[in-house]
Amino acid sequence: MTSPLRIALAGLGTVGSGVIRLVNENGAMIAQRAGRPIEIVAVTARDRNRDRGVDLSAYRWVDDMNDLATDPEVDCVVEMIGGSDGPAYNLTRNSLLHGKSVVTANKAMIAHHGMELAGLAEDQNIALKYEAAVAGGIPVIKGLRDGASANRIERVYGILNGTCNYILTTMEQHGTDFEAVLKDAQELGYAEADPSFDIDGVDAAHKLAILAALSFGTAVNFDAVDVAGIRNIMAADIGQAKALGYRIRLLGMARLDGGKLFQRVNPYLVPENHPLAHIDGSTNAVVAEGNFSGRLMFQGAGAGDGPTASAVVADLIDIARGDSGTVFSMPAGEMTCSEPAESGNRTGKSYIRFIVADKPGVLAEITAAMRDADVSIESLIQTQKTAEGSVLISMVTHQSLERDVVASLDKLSDSSSLQGAPVVMHLLSDQD
Ligand code: NDP
Ligand code: HSE
Repeated sequence: MTSPLRIALAGLGTVGSGVIRLVNENGAMIAQRAGRPIEIVAVTARDRNRDRGVDLSAYRWVDDMNDLATDPEVDCVVEMIGGSDGPAYNLTRNSLLHGKSVVTANKAMIAHHGMELAGLAEDQNIALKYEAAVAGGIPVIKGLRDGASANRIERVYGILNGTCNYILTTMEQHGTDFEAVLKDAQELGYAEADPSFDIDGVDAAHKLAILAALSFGTAVNFDAVDVAGIRNIMAADIGQAKALGYRIRLLGMARLDGGKLFQRVNPYLVPENHPLAHIDGSTNAVVAEGNFSGRLMFQGAGAGDGPTASAVVADLIDIARGDSGTVFSMPAGEMTCSEPAESGNRTGKSYIRFIVADKPGVLAEITAAMRDADVSIESLIQTQKTAEGSVLISMVTHQSLERDVVASLDKLSDSSSLQGAPVVMHLLSDQD
């Protein structure tokens, strides 16, 4: 057997300690598959004394992680720190500049700096790999970059955040309160260091921007993703959606429309007969529609130590085999930025929920605003008197231009009858 691939682990939290456990448990099999062993030679994190549930005594502890970029005993740096900038970015950039391959689980960094880092890796013919960054343990990066590479991808979409899916499905199944479920997700190791990245849709947007780049060959453009999270979704919305034959899921959706790139992360009403309606808990699922492959669906655990470590180590096996290739599905230097597509031009059905004062004329006021903006209502339910004496009005529109729906709500923005901003969710269809 040839010389080992010598790796350094930067970050020993949920993902980093999972990688140590996996390499220890499956090391012999991995060496056979990779053609050589993968050997952890150095580790670093903030706190040397923290108990991580894994034995670190066999590895050299490095106080200053930046030393790893120039360490002659390290072939490949594994970045599992997190954060788009700061230590993770500096370490990755310096390591690539010094000719070391990098494996990362960091979607925020790839979403913000992926093009620059890919250019550095490709200029030197070394690897930058990030399978764990999108959808945890699911090999979707490899699936799109390699397996589906002969296709023109028409649309890529799916459930990209395990924390949000765990929260939505637990609320749906047990009627549990939002905050309590978020706390469980944090304890299970699913949530980001700043959980607002999960619940406000930012984490899913990072992943979507990467998937769009891989699928369409366009430069990663995170800033152009239209993002909304699940913070405002009430148990009543989940109940109303169910009554209408839908389930609420936070989806990332990207497609190229006449050369313009549409990218959106939003809670959607997913028809009960759609496979994504049955993706529960922290599971993720990515659907890619290829012009020859048809619909491909990648499904599996989207977060947690084991699944994420599985993706990190798969990247290491590729590197040990000498398989680097382009970072995205084509050379980074040939990927150009596409103009963002305006969501206002899109047509579809929307679910709109208002909390209003229970008094005469409120419904007439809302429906007049819809009429004036040319938005037709397909169904409407008024329910649930709250403790404060308010009621919920939920409606589904007929097919409408999104800009007309926005205009109808603008007309109501000064209304004293509305309590808080209305919540709008689109109904998933083949046109999205
Ligand atoms: P954790 O918070 O569990 O671990 C982060 C690690 O980075 C800790 O060991 C911490 O050290 C170390 N660290 C943080 N800041 C510094 C610093 N300034 N200098 C040195 N070390 C530092 O995060 P996760 O393991 O959950 O996530 C790591 C990465 O993987 C992130 O990019 C995340 O988005 C991504 N990811 C996570 C998934 C998950 O399910 N958790 C799934 C897919 C991707 P210390 O322990 O000493 O505090
Ligand atoms: N916080 C992320 C999630 C981890 O919940 O999906 C996996 O990327």
